[in-house]
Parts: sequence; C-alpha cells; structure tokens
Amino acid sequence: MAKVLVTGGLGYIGSHTVVELLAQNHEVIIVDNLSNSEYCILSKISEITHTTPAFEQIDICDTDALRACFKAHGPIHAVIHFAAYKAVGESVSNSLLYYKNNVLGLLSVLECMREFSVCNIVFSSSCTVYGQPTQLPVTEQAPIQKALSPYGNTKQICEEIICDAIHSYNDICAVILRYFNPIGAHPSACIGELPKGVPNNLVPFITQTAAGVRKQLQVFGNDYNTPDGSAIRDYIYVVDLAKAHVKALDKLCAQTTHSGYELFNLGTGTGISVLEMVHTFERVTGVSVPYTIASRREGDIEQVWADTTRANRELDWFANTSLEDILLSAWNWEKKIRNL
Ligand code: NAD
Ligand code: UFG
Repeated sequence: MAKVLVTGGLGYIGSHTVVELLAQNHEVIIVDNLSNSEYCILSKISEITHTTPAFEQIDICDTDALRACFKAHGPIHAVIHFAAYKAVGESVSNSLLYYKNNVLGLLSVLECMREFSVCNIVFSSSCTVYGQPTQLPVTEQAPIQKALSPYGNTKQICEEIICDAIHSYNDICAVILRYFNPIGAHPSACIGELPKGVPNNLVPFITQTAAGVRKQLQVFGNDYNTPDGSAIRDYIYVVDLAKAHVKALDKLCAQTTHSGYELFNLGTGTGISVLEMVHTFERVTGVSVPYTIASRREGDIEQVWADTTRANRELDWFANTSLEDILLSAWNWEKKIRNL
C-alpha cells in the first residue's frame, strides 16, 4: 500500500479520490489551503470511509511549509496533485492569480518531490488543451491548441513543466490525466461539488434550478452544428474519475522505470448535448428545469468527447456509471445541501 500526498484533497475531485484511495487501503496525507473547499469535508470523508486521513492546511506555493510536510510525513511514495484554481472566467479577469497559483504550486510540489526523492506524480489536466479538435473522438495524440483562457494555458504550461523536468533530471514518473467534464456526487451524498456563488458549470446550474435556487437555466447556443443545435461534451462521473487516479497510482508504484510520463484521456467516450442533459435530468428526477435559449458563451467549443481506448487498455479503467445514475447522484447531493 502506498503513502500518498494529495494536494487539493478536500476539493471536489480530490475528496472523491481520497475516498477511493482509502477504500484501497492507501495511506493519505491531504494538503489543502481551503481556498475553494471546507474543513468539514474531512469529517465527511471519515464518515464514508471510517478512516481519518492526515490533513495539513498549507498553501502549496509556500515551499517551506510544503517541505516541512514532506519531512513530517515521509517517506511518501507518490503525489496526486489536484490543487489549482479552476474558474475559467476568473482566470481571464485575474490571469496572474492563476499563473501564480497553478504554475508556482506545481513548481513547489516538484521541488519538494525531488528533495525528498518522491518520484511518482499524478497530475490533473484537462481536455481544454485540445480546444476544438478536428477529429472526434479525440485521442491523446491530437495536437494541443492555443489555450482559450489563462486557466487552460496553466494546464498546458504545467504539462510542459512536468515533461521538461523529466527530461532534465530523469527522476520523475508522471501520469497526466486529461479530464473531460466531471459531474455528480458520491452515492452517500456526503461529498459533492460546492460551487461558490452562481455556478459556471452546467450540472450545478441544472440542479440549483431544479431546487428553485435559480429561476432558469440558460442554454448557451442552439445553433451549433450538432443534432439538436446545443453543444456537446463528455460528462464523466466523479467517482469513476476518482477510481482512475487509484489505477494510475497503482501503475506508477508497480513500474520499475525511474522516469517518464504517460498521458490519458478520462471521459466516457460518449458526447451528450446540453439539451439531452436537461431532458435526461427531468426524466430521471421527475423535476422540471425551466430553461431559455441564450446566445453562445464566449470561448465555448462546439463539441468534444474522448477516445478512452488508452485508459481502458493501459489502466484497465472503464467509466461505467450511467448518465441517469450520475444525474440522480447530483440531484441527491443538491437536495441534501439544500435540506430538501
Ligand atoms: P476544487 O476547486 O474543488 O479543488 C481544488 C482544491 O485545491 C480546493 O480544495 C482548494 O482549496 C485547493 N487549493 C487550490 N489552490 C491551493 C493552494 N495553493 N494550496 C493548497 N490548496 C489549494 O477543484 P476540482 O474540480 O476538484 O479540480 C481539481 C483539479 O482538477 C484542478 O487542478 C482542476 O484544474 C482540474 N480539473 C477540474 C475540472 C473540473 O471540471 N472540475 C476539469 C478539468 C481539470
Ligand atoms: N452551459 C449552458 N448553460 C450553463 C452552463 C453551461 O448551456 O449555465 C453549457 C456550456 O455552454 C457548455 C456545456 O454546458 O456547452 C458545458 O459547460 P461547463 O461550463 O459545464 O463545462 P465546459 O465544457 O465549458 O468546461 C469544463 C470546466 C473547464 C474544463 C473543461 C474540460 O469548466 O474548467 O470542462 O475539462 F477545462
């Protein structure tokens, strides 16, 4: 069993991953500065797993504090690095904040890893690096396109930093995971997505509208070149996504090479339109979601979904939760946090 340091481990994807790591008897140290999460998530993780992982409230950009954490909890076998800012719009209005947190954060993590001879890292990247691919489903070999936002650019830069560090020092093994659109909540409804303010993402907006918190959903564009005119994405269940991290960790810990990296798309392989999402939600919950058609959202691409062959084959990982069950989990979570 590995001892794993999880940065951003109280966040949305991090907390679900910590649950899966603990379920496989890995030892976890969570590092999070609570900039986009709540301390109470730690007790929710304990409620689900009956284990309380170590927790350090540290800003990963504070390399001295991170170093002390690596020292106190060593020897660490691997890092799963989630901690970053992720709001695309905010990254446009406050780009330097994003470059500082996301890029410096990674540099600090890599510096500590090298200092303490921790060679394995799993990194959270995004399908945003593909922009609008010319071929669908998109494979890992598709060219990287110029990022549409500073946030997207931080993911491209971070991927390059990891590859350059491997090239320079030959002592890092990385798995870079390009997530498509993570959605849903843990079946216990103890943990889920906690967007601050008005949600930017589709599913939290749908569930908040269904709960009466928002008046109506705006469907951004119905004039795309897609069967129903709305944009298409690959929505991946957060628990399936979390399990892929455990598979990636197991692969890293099992291998005998000392350096290198692998890239994996993490999606379902199926594209779903915005209108299909709304109608599926209404069908499985029996709750209506009032919506209007609005103009396209700036910076949005038309359609993307993943070719997941590589992750299926090399990680022995499959996303097999149905869209119906995923949307029900999101709805159960929304009802729980609203006391409905
Ligand atoms: P999240 O905001 O819920 O979780 C990130 C966690 O990191 C939060 O708990 C936050 O407090 C913490 N954090 C941020 N900066 C930190 C710092 N400097 N020091 C310590 N902790 C810090 O986000 P998430 O949705 O769980 O995303 C996790 C990762 O996956 C991010 O790197 C994100 O960019 C990436 N990603 C997310 C999505 C998505 O749609 N959610 C898609 C693609 C990639
Ligand atoms: N949408 C609406 N109305 C809304 C919100 C979203 O119609 O109120 C539409 C969008 O226009 C898009 C689709 O729903 O067509 C999905 O939008 P999201 O904001 O949920 O997701 P994105 O694909 O735009 O981006 C998300 C994350 C990014 C990440 C990317 C790929 O926000 O950080 O997935 O992982 F890079």
